[in-house]
Formats: sequence, C-alpha cells, structure tokens
Amino acid sequence: MRTVVITGGTRGIGGALAHRLRQAGDRVIAIGSADADLTSVRQTAELTHRLPDKIDVLVLAAGRFGQRRVVTDEGFEQTFAIYVLSRYLLAERLRPALDRAEAPLILNLSGTGGIRAGGINWNDLQLADGYSLFKATMQGARANDLLGAGFATAHPQSQIRYVLYNPLFVNSGMHRYLRQPARAFVGASAALFGRSTDTAATHLAALLAQPPTARLTALRRGAPVSLARPEFDRSTAARLYTLLAELTAPHCG
Ligand SMILES: NC(=O)c1ccc[n+]([C@@H]2O[C@H](COP(=O)([O-])OP(=O)(O)OC[C@H]3O[C@@H](n4cnc5c(N)ncnc54)[C@H](OP(=O)(O)O)[C@@H]3O)[C@@H](O)[C@H]2O)c1
Repeated sequence: MRTVVITGGTRGIGGALAHRLRQAGDRVIAIGSADADLTSVRQTAELTHRLPDKIDVLVLAAGRFGQRRVVTDEGFEQTFAIYVLSRYLLAERLRPALDRAEAPLILNLSGTGGIRAGGINWNDLQLADGYSLFKATMQGARANDLLGAGFATAHPQSQIRYVLYNPLFVNSGMHRYLRQPARAFVGASAALFGRSTDTAATHLAALLAQPPTARLTALRRGAPVSLARPEFDRSTAARLYTLLAELTAPHCG
C-alpha cells in the first residue's frame, strides 16, 4: 500500500485525486487549511514533523489566489507563500521520508512552461509594487517550473522523481476566492469549458500508476514539455533555490 500525502487534498483536483486513490487502496493523507495554514512557513515546517517517516508520493496541489494583495504575518505575499515557499519547503523537508520509499515521486500541479507571459520578479518577489492576480499567478507558475529543476539539480543522488503537471482548465471551484463579477465569470467559464475534477483526477491517478522514469518530467495535460525550454534553466533554478532557503530559514525554528 502506498502512502500518499496530498496538500490541497480536501477539495478541487487534489480532493478528487484523494478520493480516487483511497478507492484504489492507497493510504492518503489529505491536507487542507484546517490541518495547516500553508501560507505560513512556520506551520508548513511544523506539518512536516506530523507526517509519516516514509512517503511514496507527495502531491503539491494547495493553492489560493486573490485579486487583492494579502501579506502574511511573516511578511510574505500570500500567493507566493502558499504556491512557492510551502512547495519548496515541503519537498525539501519531506525528502528523507520520500527517500525511504521504493519508488518515490513528487507531483507538483503547477505552471509547466510554454506560456510566455509572466516571470519571476527578482527585485520584488512579494509584488509590493503593482500587484495583480495575473502577475502573482504567473510568477508562481514560473517559480514552480524552477522548483522542479532546482530539486533535481540540488539532489543528484536522490531516487525521487519530480513531475511538474499542468492540468489546464479544470472546473474545481477555485474561483470562490475571487470577488464579483470575476467570480461569476470564471465560475461560468469553468463550468462551460473546464474539465471536471473527476476527469483530471482519473488522468493523475493513471499517471501515478505508471509514472515517468526520468528524474524530472514536465507535462501539460499529459503532453510532454521540453526541459530544454528556458523556464527550466538550471542556473536560474539554483538562484531561486538559494533565495528560498534564505527566506524560509528564519521562520522554520
Ligand atoms: N483549476 C484549474 O483550472 C487549474 C489549472 C492549472 C493548475 N491548477 C493548479 O492545481 C492546483 C489545485 O487547484 P484546484 O483548482 O483544485 O484548487 P481548489 O479547488 O481551490 O483547492 C485548493 C486546495 O488548496 C487548499 N488550501 C487553500 N488555502 C490553503 C491554506 N492556506 N493552507 C492549506 N491548504 C490550503 C484547499 O483546502 P481548504 O479548502 O481545506 O482550505 C483546497 O484543498 C493548484 O495548485 C492550481 O494552481 C489548477
């Protein structure tokens, strides 16, 4: 029986995947905001101590996006905190538990290259100057591409495979964080054009049943994305990794 930890496993795509994997006999630990506030670096670090010491699969699916800039008690912009800092920290802190498994894997639901818009705002990571939902989301997506590349580069001896996966448009209910009229517009668009969370979960469960063998893989709704793209540049990834280590360390106790 595999042990699968899913952040964002209480609803949306992560919730549907948790349900599917439980039905298939996996032991699933689904994390939502009631279990740990992943916008908090301290709570994210503490969560890792409460998780099993052997983990087969870590799914990173927690996200929260808003039109208004919100700053956490630790001084981080909320999207950056949950989308980038928590995913960096969870992968790093749970690495020993993953390394104990036979065929460990990290599945990160994120950006996965190929979209030219947006980038990392190196001089203003917390988007203090001119925040927008689009800017925050795109920065998070680009940063997650680099997290995959950074993990593979930082741990060349590890057996952990890292899969970056963009499910594209899914009718998950993520629009609930938006204000009107955007909430109604995105909700209606998702209902019309998005795939169901069940369909997305079916594809992800199939992927986890027969995962890629490469150390790093990027997929857009199952289709491979070339790792030669600039979004996965190893030196840029190392730069971000160094920065994230510096930003998180003071809050980890
Ligand atoms: N939906 C799409 O079209 C789409 C497209 C591309 C990529 N993605 C990516 O897929 C992932 C999942 O998206 P989704 O649409 O399924 O999202 P969702 O329906 O909004 O679900 C978000 C999940 O994150 C958890 N969460 C939110 N804030 C949290 C916090 N502060 N601490 C801990 N957990 C928190 C929620 O838990 P609670 O409900 O318990 O608070 C919930 O389980 C996201 O990373 C997103 O970027 C989604």
